[in-house]
Amino acid sequence: MIMKKIRLCCFLLCLFAVQFGRSQEPLLQNAYHRPATLLNGNWKYIIDPYDTGYRNHRNWLPFDQAESTKASAKPYYTDKVIENPWDRVEYNFNTSPEIKVPGDWNSQFEKLEYYEGAIWYRTTFDYAVKKEDNQVLLYFGAANYQTDVYLNGEKVGQHLGGFDPFNFEVSEKLRSKGNSLVVRVDNSREKHRVPNYTTDWWNYGGITREVKLIEVPKTHIQEYQIQLDPNNPDLIKGYVQVSHGAGQEVTLKIPEARIEESFRLDGTGKTAFQIAAKRIKKWYPKRPKLYTVEISCGEDTLEDAIGFRTVATDGPNILLNGKSIFLRGISLHEENPIKVGRANAMEEARMLFGWAQELNCNFVRLAHYPHNEHMPRLADQLGILLWEEIPVYWGIDYENPEAFAQAKSQLETLVHRDKNRASVIVWSVANETPEVPSRLKFLRDLKKIALAIDDTRFISAALERDEKSTAHTVKIPDPFAEDVDMIACNEYIGWYSGLPERCAEVTWELPHNKPFFVSEFGGGALYNYHGDKLTRWTEEYQEYLYEEQLKMLRKISTLRGMTPWILADFRSPRRNLPLIQDGWNRKGLISNAGFKKKAFYILKAYYDEMEKKYDYAVKD
Ligand code: GCU
Repeated sequence: MIMKKIRLCCFLLCLFAVQFGRSQEPLLQNAYHRPATLLNGNWKYIIDPYDTGYRNHRNWLPFDQAESTKASAKPYYTDKVIENPWDRVEYNFNTSPEIKVPGDWNSQFEKLEYYEGAIWYRTTFDYAVKKEDNQVLLYFGAANYQTDVYLNGEKVGQHLGGFDPFNFEVSEKLRSKGNSLVVRVDNSREKHRVPNYTTDWWNYGGITREVKLIEVPKTHIQEYQIQLDPNNPDLIKGYVQVSHGAGQEVTLKIPEARIEESFRLDGTGKTAFQIAAKRIKKWYPKRPKLYTVEISCGEDTLEDAIGFRTVATDGPNILLNGKSIFLRGISLHEENPIKVGRANAMEEARMLFGWAQELNCNFVRLAHYPHNEHMPRLADQLGILLWEEIPVYWGIDYENPEAFAQAKSQLETLVHRDKNRASVIVWSVANETPEVPSRLKFLRDLKKIALAIDDTRFISAALERDEKSTAHTVKIPDPFAEDVDMIACNEYIGWYSGLPERCAEVTWELPHNKPFFVSEFGGGALYNYHGDKLTRWTEEYQEYLYEEQLKMLRKISTLRGMTPWILADFRSPRRNLPLIQDGWNRKGLISNAGFKKKAFYILKAYYDEMEKKYDYAVKD
């Protein structure tokens, strides 16, 4: 009984934290194309491992949750300036050092390479609101992990999540001159977070993507979905949601297709529509045709670049515009291995996709969390299909409602942000998640959430397999296999399970009514370390492993794609073999200096062959 009461109190406390913390506005979709005032640049920062500027040191309560301390000098968000010689203020942003925004803090200063905890950021700016009742949204591309935002000493809100955009309405708090924006970011790893204690990637902390102010009319285009009707590719279907738009008229134009239609918004500011798609050329990897789509309502006009295509499965086949395709993929992290830090710029997106194209990929797995918005938008332009996912990774606290709330929030944001991207064809809700009883409901509930927003793309996950190092048959007993559109799993036969020769001894037993997809296989190699093919960590071993893996995978009749692990070496605190790993996961086909290893060419040759085997002319 006691345990039940404690659990209930924890739940209520979490609920309070979640509700209190999340006073953010619904995400403004397509912020990417809105005029904005960028707040990127050099901000001041203060390292605060003991939460001196955030919590009362005696009762550990956050200052911004206790009325008593609102006026005190202690909380760093008051951004106190020392005015008199006798003032006692034990911090000062004005005389503190500077840090670049956007950018993780780990890669900017050696002393912060392994830092996990809180860092305070402060910038100042002037802002004149353009029109009286306009809304001004303070928009963050992402910050890892807990972000508390204060403007001119007042709490704006809190966001939980390390890789998803968020925004707050701030017009009431803005001044025309001398605004003080203070942001606390805490990247601590905690049990109820998503991901939680351990990951095989670097826990880069900070404001990792851009920060900007977006001013919109009170009546503005909040979000929309516009795409070919999956059941009738001669129709474009979709909807538009306008904030404060009840009863108004919205106009949709696709000039190149000579489409211009107007619709009346309902009482909630929403309209759904179907339009003939007679002149639309479909989007294909080999012909990534994008159309300028213009949506307008009242004073607000918003443009997007949208590709029109359909995806479906047909038994073991994956169909793009009705034709069977093979996903020639590769996995990658959101990391620039040469700079050694989070990738967040368009040129870094071009570098990563450029390497994938050299491999002759038509598919990329954006592992293991939502990547910056340059990636799906550039993939639309390049004709690269995408797998996107949230970091429900390894052991999540499946019993805890707060963990589910955070997974739900990250998934909703990802699907809302990217549901108009032709390149995105998979939403993945899990990676190698141990089969504890509560995990299946957790994943099924996430699937429902994704489908409620967008039911036109595949749901998948890196499922659990039961490959034992002695068994010669690999099965996928994971009950979530019945819920996904593509059966996907990570397998490391030849690296974690036996040596590469074991690939020849293994047979796969798979459900035959769905496409099979290998979401990870691979092995480590230090670039330019050479030896015989059974000396682990040589390029020859990795090359031999890829040869044996591909021989094994060719035998699987329902195989329709793969994203070997991984495009480039990446940082991980779990990889500590001196002179070989030194804090890097070496499974990259490209080294952290950008050089291709021998296995790169094994995979490329296979993809050249699969391109011919599945090649088809682009007709419509
Ligand atoms: C796992 C996991 C990856 C990890 C990889 C590895 O499958 O999904 O995130 O990096 O194995 O062990 O290298």
